[in-house]
Amino acid sequence: MSIPIPKVKFNNGVEVPIIGNGSWAPNTPEAQGAVKDWILSALKAGFRHIDTAQGYHTEGAVGQAIRESGIPREEIFVTTKLPWSDHGRVRESFEVSHANLGTYIDLYLMHWPQYIPQREDGSDPINPDGSWQASDAVNFNQSWAEIEKLLDTGKVRSIGVSNFSIKTLEELLKTAKVIPVTNQVELHPYLAQNELREYCQKKGITLTAYTPSGYSVVRNDPLIVSIAEKYKVSPTQVIFAWHISRGTIIVPKSENPERQKQNITLVQISEEDIGKIWHLDRGQRICNKADEKTGQVYGWTLEQLGWVNYRNSA
Ligand SMILES: NC(=O)c1ccc[n+]([C@@H]2O[C@H](COP(=O)([O-])OP(=O)(O)OC[C@H]3O[C@@H](n4cnc5c(N)ncnc54)[C@H](OP(=O)(O)O)[C@@H]3O)[C@@H](O)[C@H]2O)c1
Repeated sequence: MSIPIPKVKFNNGVEVPIIGNGSWAPNTPEAQGAVKDWILSALKAGFRHIDTAQGYHTEGAVGQAIRESGIPREEIFVTTKLPWSDHGRVRESFEVSHANLGTYIDLYLMHWPQYIPQREDGSDPINPDGSWQASDAVNFNQSWAEIEKLLDTGKVRSIGVSNFSIKTLEELLKTAKVIPVTNQVELHPYLAQNELREYCQKKGITLTAYTPSGYSVVRNDPLIVSIAEKYKVSPTQVIFAWHISRGTIIVPKSENPERQKQNITLVQISEEDIGKIWHLDRGQRICNKADEKTGQVYGWTLEQLGWVNYRNSA
């Protein structure tokens, strides 16, 4: 039996549909050229929440799909993100995102806590060993203060963060005047983020899960597969039922109309079966992992990120 799409209320009263379609795409002309059509098909399938980022180069396609859909703008929730390269120029970067989308932004996130300025020639600052050169010229407390000011523009309704840990949130909250409405992090049954979840609940910060399906690694877990068989639904639907039971906002990405329909069809699973999924947690990151040579994740160590109790995917 499918259930209606619940909404989650942020600490500022704004509501967001609990499931959105992600919009990361490879940065090739072919892949980018296809994005508008699959965002449009996600909207037709019933999604009313789209997650993008300036770093994905898909903001323009998202804006265009929303306009072409004919769905009233206020019925759709749009999230975009400040790139790590722009911590020193928040206002300018925000204006670029706003222009790309061609509409107001429901939620603006700091994509990563670390600042990685681009080189003067516009290239990515990557060292010969493959590590990224982060900079401490601007810290996330300073860029958050600039993000807070964006609320006065009337072009953004809510602000939040992404890839923050308890450690970096503690540091942020020392100076924040506005509490982030959400923290978007990798989260799935193999990386349940229970401590972060408890911490964020106490602070009034929701969690949004990226990589919510856990890819084929989690979709093929024998317990997930057996529950899916029992309820005659897909493994992805079982995983999403677990997220929804925990009140976590999820932004799965699919560009396939059939899988989009499947993802937006939320199913009911018994509390007992959901309870079994809680035991799958093993602190396993599958999407953003530490580089094997440098031990870093985009220029920061796990220590700096506060990504403790963690292991790389096999
Ligand atoms: N804040 C951050 O740093 C961050 C990092 C990563 C991602 N994100 C956001 O989160 C979104 C989703 O993350 P993600 O792509 O890593 O994880 P995901 O949504 O869990 O996985 C996407 C992959 O699963 C496939 N898929 C989707 N639904 C499926 C289904 N029902 N059955 C089988 N396969 C299915 C997709 O293929 P098809 O498209 O072919 O269906 C795609 O290969 C991104 O698009 C982006 O918006 C944010």
